[in-house]
Amino acid sequence: MLTFSFKNSQISASQIKRYGTVLAGYVATLQDVMKQRSYDCYESSILLSGNRQEIKEIQNHAKQFISSALRYVIVIGIGGSNLGAKAIYDALLGSTDTISIQRFPKLICLDTCDVHTAQTVMQTLQQEIVSSDQYIINVISKSGSTAETVANTAYFFQMGAQKLPEFEKRVVITTDEDSVLWKMSKEKGYTSLAIPKKVGGRYSAFSSVGLFPLACLGIDIAQVCKGAQWALRQGISDRIEKNPSAQSAIALVSQYTKRNVIHDTFFFAPALETLGKWYRQLFAESLGKVPLGKKNTKAIGITPTVSIGSTDLHSMAQLYLANPTSRFTTFVSIAKTIDTPRLNGSEWTALVPGLQGQTLHGLMKTIYQGVVNTYTAKKMPFVQIDMKECSAFTLGAFMQMKMLEVMYCAHVLGVNAFDQPHVEIYKKEVRKLLK
Ligand code: PA5
Repeated sequence: MLTFSFKNSQISASQIKRYGTVLAGYVATLQDVMKQRSYDCYESSILLSGNRQEIKEIQNHAKQFISSALRYVIVIGIGGSNLGAKAIYDALLGSTDTISIQRFPKLICLDTCDVHTAQTVMQTLQQEIVSSDQYIINVISKSGSTAETVANTAYFFQMGAQKLPEFEKRVVITTDEDSVLWKMSKEKGYTSLAIPKKVGGRYSAFSSVGLFPLACLGIDIAQVCKGAQWALRQGISDRIEKNPSAQSAIALVSQYTKRNVIHDTFFFAPALETLGKWYRQLFAESLGKVPLGKKNTKAIGITPTVSIGSTDLHSMAQLYLANPTSRFTTFVSIAKTIDTPRLNGSEWTALVPGLQGQTLHGLMKTIYQGVVNTYTAKKMPFVQIDMKECSAFTLGAFMQMKMLEVMYCAHVLGVNAFDQPHVEIYKKEVRKLLK
């Protein structure tokens, strides 16, 4: 479960009412999408977490690859094609991967083309893998033609095909059913997983894109989806004051109109950093564009940033507090974590008054409260999201809540949340150079 507090968001009841009226039609559209149950519009990503048959099929596919021997799930994909799975994996397991070196299976993501990473991964596989059940290569690309993904895949096939056991049997391709990659995958007989046509990359975390690798990694994807369903029930409610996604969108948009052009999501949990990056991509790629039908207007320019508590208090807090303008903050905290012993009786606790008897998590909570008090005193606008715990359920809920929030922001700002026309500009340039 998540709990929300909007009391410091500085939105008035009249703003909620005004924006609520703007959103009413769109809420009805989303409710309709839920009723129609067909994947023929861009919002249909909201159907994914309730599609039990599809979830079962993904689990069944994963079962064919899972065994106690599995060590590495290698995802080759970028942006919306890897960030959702990585966000959940890192939050639950991955953030301590470099310390828990003997915990398997591990997720390895190859997104950009980095020769050191690609080579190290390949060398590690060649040294460690002795049987085919120890690894999976999941290539994920909706378009099937993203340069970095195709190049990393080509590298893997070139370097691994001969050297890794039963390489081709361990390849899973996730893509659009009518992409060239899909055709190729089918011809070669690789396991092929489809992405519903209208579900865009950054909204695809609850499709085979996010759920298949997570299931292979032993994460309870049914719980991820249950969490998403929980967020959906509230997030498509026409009672705006009971709809956290809509309220959060209203807060963001009204702060933007007050020139608060930076949206900082401040996670008081280091394991949620990748979740922050997932949200940053969702937000920037969905909203950073020129409003529809207003060609000569400037693009919407709310810049999403990610801060980590308490680390970034020792890095960014000086700036945030000295110049509190232009910024709107969403704090994200986790209420309950694993129990650690209370700090007791040693001469170390005496160095910081009040530390005696605290737990590590208790100290973090106190620091967080201190920051909240400071923001309040300085009248800096913020909302608070508190996760009951860091679990598959709460992560699914957070992601669905945010996907709806972004759709609502797009509706109010008059932009298309589902395209990315300006990304094409540099891609075209790269294609030209490659030729
Ligand atoms: O969210 C998006 O649409 C993008 O970030 C894409 O996921 C990203 O560009 C990768 O594209 P593709 O999945 O087609 O390889």
